[in-house]
Amino acid sequence: MSPPAGVVAPGRVAVVTGAASGIGLGLCERFAAEGMRVVMADVEELALSDAARRLSSQGSAVLPVLTDVSRPDQVDALRDEAVRAFGAVHVLCNNAGVGGSHGPLWLIPAGEWDWVLGVNLGGVINGIRAFVPLLLAQDAAHIVNTASIFGVFAGALGPYGISKHAVVALTETLHFQLRALGARVGVSVLCPGAVRTNFGTSARNRPASAGAGPADGAAARASAEQFRQLAAAGIEPAQVADMVVEAIRSARFYILTSGNRDDAVRRRGDEILSGSPPAPPFP
Ligand SMILES: NC(=O)c1ccc[n+]([C@@H]2O[C@H](COP(=O)([O-])OP(=O)(O)OC[C@H]3O[C@@H](n4cnc5c(N)ncnc54)[C@H](O)[C@@H]3O)[C@@H](O)[C@H]2O)c1
Repeated sequence: MSPPAGVVAPGRVAVVTGAASGIGLGLCERFAAEGMRVVMADVEELALSDAARRLSSQGSAVLPVLTDVSRPDQVDALRDEAVRAFGAVHVLCNNAGVGGSHGPLWLIPAGEWDWVLGVNLGGVINGIRAFVPLLLAQDAAHIVNTASIFGVFAGALGPYGISKHAVVALTETLHFQLRALGARVGVSVLCPGAVRTNFGTSARNRPASAGAGPADGAAARASAEQFRQLAAAGIEPAQVADMVVEAIRSARFYILTSGNRDDAVRRRGDEILSGSPPAPPFP
């Protein structure tokens, strides 16, 4: 598929979920710097309005839309708001995500599975269902789904890694289906390594429905600390945003943001072919 021409360009419209912080905010800032109009979706109301106010005070056309991506009705409403305000959508970044805990799978409460899979995978599914028919009717568009490096090497980190493997598979399927249609909608899957964001505190958005259990105890603190340490060693969201814009422009599909897990990615392919059990991705 040839790269869609000029979807990152002045006057074009980007919709970004998880836009109030971290990678999503970095994407919004970069798209705004390109002269695009930006629809910022997030579940955290105060952080969202602060971020949107800051971007619009710099002269950007910005629309904040309070959205829980795990709710199909709210993602449909996000699309409708975007079209009402700006008339079209050219770049969709399904980026919102949460960490959860990653103790033994059998000890993770059902509500926590629902939360992590509902946001990380359900949010992407809701974005695809709500937006793809609209994008197919336009001249050109590009979708970027945020997975993780944890989506491409041997499964780890419990529900989080499982959700991210699913986002990679979903995005590959979407690519095949759009290519079969000859659609002018490009697709990429963003698989960041460590990035300096607020991801280590993603339990701040944990709903009561996720229930109690390991997520509220020592395992949760260990998970948060592991995510915090990973993120602290990471690159800046602005660097990720640069890579995403470059990937959209060059029709790059897999976007890995650091090379320090390449061996673990290669090893997984070798293990699948040889039948040997997976080695842990971390030494
Ligand atoms: N930071 C990293 O090192 C790293 C590495 C790999 C992948 N990722 C992925 O990058 C994406 C962005 O995370 P980040 O690191 O910027 O973290 P972050 O916590 O800084 O930002 C995530 C944003 O998503 C929002 N959000 C959470 N639940 C939501 C919901 N239900 N609906 C809408 N918005 C919601 C949060 O309010 C927050 O603004 C996630 O999908 C994450 O899994 C991050």
